[in-house]
Amino acid sequence: MNEGWYCYLNGPRETSSDKKEPEMLIDDSRNLLDMMEPNSVDVIITSPPYFDAKDYDVDNQIGFGQTYEVYLNELEKVLSDCYKVAKDTGSLWLIMDTVVRDGHMHLIPFELAQNMSDQTDSWKLTDIIIWNKGKSLPWTKKGTFRKVSEYIFFFRKGENFKFEIDRIREPEMTKWWVKWPERYHPLGKIPGDIWNFRIPTQGSWGNGYLRHFCPFPHELVERIVLLTTDEGDTVFDPFAGSGAVLATAYALRRKAIGIELNREYVERFYSTALPAFIKEYQDTPQRKLDSPAQSTKFEKISALTQLKYSLTFVQLMLEQNDVKHQEGFTFSLFIEVDNDREKFLSVGNFAPEMVIVSPNDEFTHLICKHRDDILLKSKLASYRIEASIDIMNQSEFEKSSFGKRILKKNLFVYSGSKFYDFDISLSESKSWNKYVVPDQPKVFANISIRLKKGGNDILLNESKHQSVL
Ligand SMILES: C[S@@+](CC[C@H](N)C(=O)[O-])C[C@H]1O[C@@H](n2cnc3c(N)ncnc32)[C@H](O)[C@@H]1O
Repeated sequence: MNEGWYCYLNGPRETSSDKKEPEMLIDDSRNLLDMMEPNSVDVIITSPPYFDAKDYDVDNQIGFGQTYEVYLNELEKVLSDCYKVAKDTGSLWLIMDTVVRDGHMHLIPFELAQNMSDQTDSWKLTDIIIWNKGKSLPWTKKGTFRKVSEYIFFFRKGENFKFEIDRIREPEMTKWWVKWPERYHPLGKIPGDIWNFRIPTQGSWGNGYLRHFCPFPHELVERIVLLTTDEGDTVFDPFAGSGAVLATAYALRRKAIGIELNREYVERFYSTALPAFIKEYQDTPQRKLDSPAQSTKFEKISALTQLKYSLTFVQLMLEQNDVKHQEGFTFSLFIEVDNDREKFLSVGNFAPEMVIVSPNDEFTHLICKHRDDILLKSKLASYRIEASIDIMNQSEFEKSSFGKRILKKNLFVYSGSKFYDFDISLSESKSWNKYVVPDQPKVFANISIRLKKGGNDILLNESKHQSVL
């Protein structure tokens, strides 16, 4: 065991040069201001010791053998010190439960939240989540139900707290997604306020190690870490116990710091849990964003949304009164569907390139007159799309860089309201204008979409560059 990995209670502290990651300090979190820099932590994830329930087998522990008032005061002091070491963009995730003693229910996390919200310079309660642990103790008392949950109290420091919700969206597909893709966020829905994560069982993370703890499932920690921090940020747990918070944060390439009073727990963390955890994490990566299932759903919803947008634009143009009565009115809309997930994540909207090719000045004038109103005021304004549609004549289009690029691809022709099924596949895109028909504007796209049998799914293919033009 490498002794330089941690420092000892009342003993010599390491110098910064021999610190190892993750850093689990054997110390008392009541002294955390001696160990941590102000404004240095991005997120605090912790479950403090229970009140008068568990003996963690160490002197000076918070909770065991204390009166309720002393217990609450000491926790409040630790949490207020956490506030000082947190950055303005930081947050606190307090995982706790109520407790019944002498027939009276102590609403511990609620009382802590109330006391802190009464102070001006303190944590602000943002939301309360129910954590369904999926497992309960085998007994109940009269008047209580099987205890399967705990609370997660989420506090923020400043108003500009980190909250990267897109990273933890849950992929979903109801049967309506094909017809109404614009109603679905392509990365899925925001998780609800009941979280289902089963507590780890005996035997995970190295044999027998979990016996003494109520360890967090690492998926739970992962969700909070992804939501509230970026790589290289600092995650802190002042009551580190098994070290689940530190190990998960470390695996996600965050700096991880914890304090734990019981030296034995710290030693076991480094000798048993951390190596076992790292191995398990590598074997079963949890990151949902990287899962092929989620990228496929993203691509399908994003492509359908963009196609529907362009065909709806065409329909709305045809509904304009002066357009309706213009004999032979037509145009072609070229769209290069953009399915780049990274771009979407950084910008938050699709930005497909679109160009209208108009056959003559009269139609150009009419299209120009209605284009901005349709984009800004119609139902298209609520799509997650950044659209600016240029209007060109055929020769301008074919000479433009967009025209040259898209005409080198196999194109798929869509018309009417069938945005989820193409009419024609054009392997010779040069001859696209053969398909321009009066009164029936067409959409030419670089993506082929075919409705699958049963109508609840689509086949999607992005066109390749043509080898011969
Ligand atoms: C509920 S457990 C934390 C479990 C942890 N969330 C996990 O995933 O394993 C609380 C921990 O706080 C530790 N503890 C109690 N008093 C402490 C103090 N004053 N300073 C630091 N740690 C303390 C206990 O030894 C125990 O390991």
